[in-house]
Parts: sequence; structure tokens; C-alpha cells
Amino acid sequence: MKKGAIQQQIYICIMLLLLLFTCTYTNVYAQESQLSEAPIFIDGEAVNTRFIMREGHLLVPAIFLKHTGTLVDWNEEYRSVVFQSKERMFALPVEKDFTDDFDRVTGTWKRGSLSTETIEFNGEPFIPLIDVVKKLGMNVKYDPKVKRTFITTNIHIQPNELNKVDTSSMLVALTFDDGPENHYTPMILDILKEKGVPATFFVVGREITTYPEIMKRIVNEGHGIGNHTWHHPDLRKKWSSRIQEEIQSTQQELQKVVGKKPDLFRPPYGAMTKADKVILNKMGMRNILWSVDTLDWSGLPADDILEIVNRDISPGGIILQHNFQYGRLLDGSVEALPRIIDDLQKKGYKFVTLQTLLAKQTVEEHS
Ligand code: NI
Repeated sequence: MKKGAIQQQIYICIMLLLLLFTCTYTNVYAQESQLSEAPIFIDGEAVNTRFIMREGHLLVPAIFLKHTGTLVDWNEEYRSVVFQSKERMFALPVEKDFTDDFDRVTGTWKRGSLSTETIEFNGEPFIPLIDVVKKLGMNVKYDPKVKRTFITTNIHIQPNELNKVDTSSMLVALTFDDGPENHYTPMILDILKEKGVPATFFVVGREITTYPEIMKRIVNEGHGIGNHTWHHPDLRKKWSSRIQEEIQSTQQELQKVVGKKPDLFRPPYGAMTKADKVILNKMGMRNILWSVDTLDWSGLPADDILEIVNRDISPGGIILQHNFQYGRLLDGSVEALPRIIDDLQKKGYKFVTLQTLLAKQTVEEHS
């Protein structure tokens, strides 16, 4: 063969290799960005999850199991996911097809088997769903007709969620989330002071460290307080130990700055899993949502906010507003506040802190 022909063949080989590399890379990339989602039914409730099908096994992100009321944590030392329910504890090391099961009677670990390996995908552990759910002692079935998976957890979690207080009294609570901060909060406090109306502030731990003086002012002026985590994360996406840290660190900061710890909690975005509720219950915290969503965080003008409040208010109602919103303006909310107070007072409503409103419910329950 001539020298030129050999060179040409080498070029072709290099081009083919490049093409192969590009195809493989694009394929992996496409797979990552197009990870499928499907609902899985847990105690009759549909919960969406990303999933991977591998050799006939359904793999889901380990953290998804929090929706079944199981505590899920990551152990960096052993590179394993640790599942913990009332009766059971076991770990799934990534890229292995076995489990380490803790025997509570003997206090020792035993090796168990999995039908397929756990995998790490984009730095996130995915576990075989059916295996884990069965190990947790839950019932699981796949209905081929509707192509859906149904899980029955057999776990009862004490409900402790409140959207409003059941009362016939004309009482309502104003609540402000995500502060303290130093721009809108003083304006809101001034308006409340002038009107002689108390509110409740769900505060974020890291903001308290930045604005301790504003935090003190909130409490000194007679307003109620609630815990709204330390970093304001989406709790559904965090390991169970992190949930506890988020709440506890904020409690400690409040104790340090204002000398008291609330037993009220509001999850960021109003979102949490059954496992997060287990932690809240254990900590003796009450989970407070809302019955009137002003949508003020989106920058709505005052008129729109007022319309929502007048439309959705009812006795025992809890109104959601914000005194801080990263990168957004709350001028509409501040402008609406005195008008909300005037409008509702004209209708016969009285403003109280959440603590007072909740006490009202207890009194009525016992009478
Ligand atoms: Ni929030």
C-alpha cells in the first residue's frame, strides 16, 4: 500500500472514533435530561417520581422513599443509603446488590440480598423500589392494566397539619414568611403597630443571624413566631437528618436571640413528605399551613391581593403573606396590609396571633 493510502485509512479511523465518541456522549446526555417521570401511588395518593428501568427493575431516587414515612439518610463513610422505620433499619451501599440489615435484638449487622444493584446517577443514589418497599414490610403491587405501582405503607402518622382553625368566632391570623429582613419588615411592623394588630412571623434561621435586632423587635411588639427552617430548602429533596438540623438550629437561634422557642412550624413551599411529618411530630412541632394565599410573593398589586383576601377569608382563617422574597418586590403586599386590616375589621373580624387562634380551638374542643 502506498503511504498516502495508509494515511487516508488512519484519518478514516480517527473520524469513526470521533463519531462513536460523539454518539455515546450525546446518548448519555439525552438519557440524563430525559429521565422519565411517573406517579407511584402511596396509600392511594399519587406521588410523581423520576425513575430508571434497568433489566426489568424499577429504580427510583432513594429520597423518594421519604414519601412512605421512612426516614432516609446518606452515610458518606460507607457510601450507602440508610432506611429507618419504626421496626427496621438497613443500608444499601451504592453500586452493590446487597443490603446491610441491622438486627435490633442482637445489635449486629447482617447481609441481605437485592435483586439488582443500586446505582448512582448524576451523583444521586437510585434504589430498586420493590425490594426496598418489601424490606420495609409494606405491601406493593404493580397493576399491568394501568401500568402503575401501588404501595400500602401500613404506617399511621398522627395528622398535625392545619390550614385553618375550626371556630365560629370571627378570628383571623395574619402570617408573614421568610424574614426577618430590614426593608419590608420594619414597614410591616409600623403598620401593625399603628393599627394595634398582632401577626405571626415564620422566620428563617439564617435571616435571624443577619437581622437579630429586627427579630427582637417582632417579639417585643407582641407578635407570634414560628419556625420556617434555617435555609428555606424544599424538604422533600433533603435527607431526614438534614430536616432535623434545619428545624433544631432555627429553634436554638430563636432561643439565643429572643429567649423562646415556638412549637409552630411551616414548611417552605408548604411541601413535605410523610417522613418529615414523623420528625416534626417527634419534635412536638405543629405544622401550620394557610387558608388564604395572597400570592404576594409573585409581586401582585395591592388591589389583587385585597380581592383574594376578601374572597377567601372565613372565621379561623390563616392568611399567608411574606416580609421577604429573594429578588422580588413586596410593595403590593405592604400597600395592601392596612386595607386588609380595615376591610376585615369592617366585616367584624378580629386579628390574633396564631398561638391565640390555636388556643381558641382547644377551648372549643374541650367545652
Ligand atoms: Ni417561605
